[in-house]
Amino acid sequence: MDSTSTAARTVKTGFAFFDLQAQFATIRHEILQAVESVLESQHFILGQQVELFEKDAAAYVEAPYAVGCASGTDALYLALCAEGVGPGDEVITTPFTFVATAGSIARTGATPVFVDIDPDTFNIAPDLVRKAVTEKTRAIVPVHLFGLAAELRPIQKVAEEHSLAVIEDAAQAIGATYRGQKVGSIGNFGCFSFFPSKNLGCAGDGGMVTARDGGMADRLYLLRAHGTRRKYHSEIIGMNSRLDALQAAILRVKIRYLDAWTKARRDRAALYAQLFDQYDLTSFIKSPSAPSHSGHVYNQYVIRSDDRDALRDYLQEHGVPTAIYYPEPLHLQPAFAYLGYSKGSMPEAEKACLNSLALPIYPELPAEDQERVVRSIADFYKSQVHKTRGN
Ligand SMILES: Cc1ncc(COP(=O)(O)O)c(C=O)c1O
Repeated sequence: MDSTSTAARTVKTGFAFFDLQAQFATIRHEILQAVESVLESQHFILGQQVELFEKDAAAYVEAPYAVGCASGTDALYLALCAEGVGPGDEVITTPFTFVATAGSIARTGATPVFVDIDPDTFNIAPDLVRKAVTEKTRAIVPVHLFGLAAELRPIQKVAEEHSLAVIEDAAQAIGATYRGQKVGSIGNFGCFSFFPSKNLGCAGDGGMVTARDGGMADRLYLLRAHGTRRKYHSEIIGMNSRLDALQAAILRVKIRYLDAWTKARRDRAALYAQLFDQYDLTSFIKSPSAPSHSGHVYNQYVIRSDDRDALRDYLQEHGVPTAIYYPEPLHLQPAFAYLGYSKGSMPEAEKACLNSLALPIYPELPAEDQERVVRSIADFYKSQVHKTRGN
């Protein structure tokens, strides 16, 4: 997601890892109309389009307040600032995520405290969260990775016991549910990204913070616009992180299709599972787990294989695009070396970096492409058996 090109097509075969053009073709007319109306108005910063989108998005996420901002990264930073997190504080999070999660914590001056993941879900392990709480802990940032809700109930319990804020990183998970509730409406804050490859993507960068509390929402409105309620009068130190009116207008069109696109993603995940069965692959690869109390939205479809690198090379040679999210855990990256973690300290996250592989998934993905992906995986394992026999 993140750094990949937003039009990630493999030139050789035309087979797409994801295909935003296919989606645009279905809503082209409405998007162009929305863009045209903003251009006609010449009103580009905040204003009616942003307010209307914030209303639609709050209703969609089932959160009392939604505040548009410039990116998912800023959404995290703004939520942390609204909560008053800063130097001397510790914030617990996962090392198996996009860098923005921990980077935003570090930017406030607080210390990111990494805890390992549950190997089954890729999400932060709640029992380890409990063990990591100290006197200095101020907040927990669980990430709903790949579109699957983190195990929030025990995390909320720890937070309540120690008066900590829960800031959900829902950048990859708009529409996902946890025990019947939408993610982003459960913790104190929900942080969303509208990066183009997200399930609800705009035409550039965009983000949003949801909040349960009106006072916190008010702080977010202030923080995203230089601390000002009226022009040239700053109540607090803020920043410039506004959602553009053009992006809001586009998002207002797209949010109406989001449930249908989520259903299409779920159908494609179900087809992968069926094909893995059909091709007898279930002992070689592990498909993503989806606990019955969670509604997965499959921003990514990530399998695990002990032969990941060889499998990926084979698929690439046969024109099947894949991606690795994430090749390196955050606690071992140079940017976080100052925290002093060593190799082996988060074994499950480190293992996930070595054996996880994302397969193509997007709402318009043709069934024939999925069949080709799975057939190629089966061919790889057949070739492995032949190699072993040949030795
Ligand atoms: C888990 C996670 N958190 C935060 C972000 C940051 O969002 P943005 O790219 O909109 O700044 C992303 C984006 O890829 C993400 O995947």
